[in-house]
Amino acid sequence: MKPVRKHQKVAELNSRQRAWLEIERRKLRPGMPEYQEFRRELMPIEIELGMGFDAQESPIIYKWKPGQEANGFLMVTGGSGSGKTEALKLFGAGIAEHGIPIITIDFHGDVTFPGQTTVRLRAVSGGSEFGINPLVIEPAYIRQMGLGAKIQREVSRMSRAVGCMSEQQQSCLYHVMEQTYRQFGIREEDDSTWGRKPPTLADIVQGLSDGYRSGIEAFDKRTISSCWSKLRRICSNPVFIRGEPLRIHDLLAWNVRLDCSRLDLPSQLLVAETVLEMLFEAGRGEGEIPVKPETDADRYRAFIMIDEARVLTMGRGSPDASEHILNIMASQCRKFGIGLILASQMCSHFSREVHTNINTRLAMKRMDPDEAKKVAMHMGLVPRDLISSESPPGLGYFCGASTGGTVRLRLRQLAD
Ligand SMILES: Nc1ncnc2c1ncn2[C@@H]1O[C@H](COP(=O)(O)OP(=O)(O)O)[C@@H](O)[C@H]1O
Ligand SMILES: [Mg+2]
Repeated sequence: MKPVRKHQKVAELNSRQRAWLEIERRKLRPGMPEYQEFRRELMPIEIELGMGFDAQESPIIYKWKPGQEANGFLMVTGGSGSGKTEALKLFGAGIAEHGIPIITIDFHGDVTFPGQTTVRLRAVSGGSEFGINPLVIEPAYIRQMGLGAKIQREVSRMSRAVGCMSEQQQSCLYHVMEQTYRQFGIREEDDSTWGRKPPTLADIVQGLSDGYRSGIEAFDKRTISSCWSKLRRICSNPVFIRGEPLRIHDLLAWNVRLDCSRLDLPSQLLVAETVLEMLFEAGRGEGEIPVKPETDADRYRAFIMIDEARVLTMGRGSPDASEHILNIMASQCRKFGIGLILASQMCSHFSREVHTNINTRLAMKRMDPDEAKKVAMHMGLVPRDLISSESPPGLGYFCGASTGGTVRLRLRQLAD
């Protein structure tokens, strides 16, 4: 970008320079909702990755340009301490700087970068005053799929989060959820009721314990009580029952990092799956992006970044399960303008569906031989390239259209 010359007339400035002046005048910074209003002027998305050497051995600065890739999926793999989290911070800061919303689901609590707003989800009082309510109604979803499908989806999600629930327990939960929505006055056939205050998970366990006392037709007491005891713990977690549930547009407007490091595994899973689903539904609600997007702002409405994605993919059940939200997103995100950045130590932490759809890869050096063999195959490398116990963190290979194939590079590290 050409710098603004001293005394240059405002009329002579191009729209990008004018946007910068306005951003400066209003003292806007990445991470403020108003900053995102300028995203069109900040396109294309180009994020400096670091230094490498081109075919002639001349030094070159490589960039990730998601607009040149077939989609916005980026997978980062590499051994512990190889620099994955640092790489994610680089991507996150770059996306935020371009005014594109980015949500970070942070299981370890260390993916911090400029331009984000941290919400610490804690199971004890004194944590953030915000929570996540999986029972919030997305009107676009109900219109298309119906309330029954929404309830079924929540039942499966709860069942995955707490470990397997039997068919009987799941249908008991379905019944209680249906009743509870009805008690809250929310009815599928009347869309004017969809905006009413939704129940929380606390209302569901309450429904189960009331059901135990007064009986629920078609379910014996043993089923009701076993269902209750499986769900009691997760449903009473303050994260899911707090007064102010975070809405997807807040998460996007403030580039929220959800620090889930203080939650137990079932709650981490429920938070992550719920947020992914919220984002996906919001994208679906807005409709598909244009077939030929004019700029990256049309191509990418939002990014979501997940470090230690193994927690989500391997937490419960198989990563290959077709109803797994990551698998649904992997195949459908691009058309709704959602970019997905995932990091984990091993590529086997991801399903076949995810591998098929991932377009851009970053493999950090320092892999064990078995892992190196698998990753090398995806990137046109030989395993030897990826194995090194000596190599310093930050060395790796990036493979994408942005770099014209696989290149070796040393990743830039964000200043503290
Ligand atoms: N690109 C880099 N350049 C220099 N040092 C780095 C780089 N990336 C990571 N490091 C150093 O290595 C350490 C481990 O990096 P981290 O990203 O946490 O690894 P991982 O997430 O793969 O376990 C960090 O504390 C950091 O100081
Ligand atoms: Mg890490």
